[in-house]
Amino acid sequence: MYTKLSAVYPGSFDPPTNGHLDIITRASKLFPKIIVSVTDNSVKKHMFSLQERVDLLKEASKDLPNVEVASFSGLLADYLEKIDTFVLIRGLRALSDFEYEFQMALMNRKLNKNIETIFLLPDQSNTFLSSSMVKEIAALGGKTKDFVPECVEKKLHDQR
Ligand code: COA
Repeated sequence: MYTKLSAVYPGSFDPPTNGHLDIITRASKLFPKIIVSVTDNSVKKHMFSLQERVDLLKEASKDLPNVEVASFSGLLADYLEKIDTFVLIRGLRALSDFEYEFQMALMNRKLNKNIETIFLLPDQSNTFLSSSMVKEIAALGGKTKDFVPECVEKKLHDQR
């Protein structure tokens, strides 16, 4: 049986960008409760710790009352089972995201048949954004103000 009230938006969010916030905002209008769930992506080397990413997302989404931020480790399918929530939100920026997202959605459903993944499209202005690009721009002294929430911009700046 589905817990219909919540949806989980999982990701590594290293760091959260305006594109992530765009998806969180859209999802918050569709579901009574969104649990943004942060984890470490085993194939990525993260710049910010799990706790830093959770704190940044809490700050960036503080004006959205039905958004909660949590973290998890291990399999996403197990985490969903544990919190009894089976709706997943993922963003699709371009066709290039599709193959990875398609594979992940089907694998999650194979791991737990109750899991349904819903894809949301960000605003066109956010389709070219990625966390790695933002980190590279920041590391090379470029301006990231237009791509990330203010708290992330500050954190990237402090990191230099
Ligand atoms: N706007 C802008 N950028 C976006 C975006 C959007 N709407 N949606 C995704 N992105 C970008 C991110 O910036 C990020 O860029 P990067 O690759 O340069 O870092 C990339 O797309 C994806 O990052 P994100 O969505 O934050 O997380 P992820 O793809 O690293 O997350 C998990 C993947 C965490 C959901 C997945 O690894 C997972 O489920 N892990 C748990 C273990 C597990 O269950 N594994 C089996 C899965 S089948």
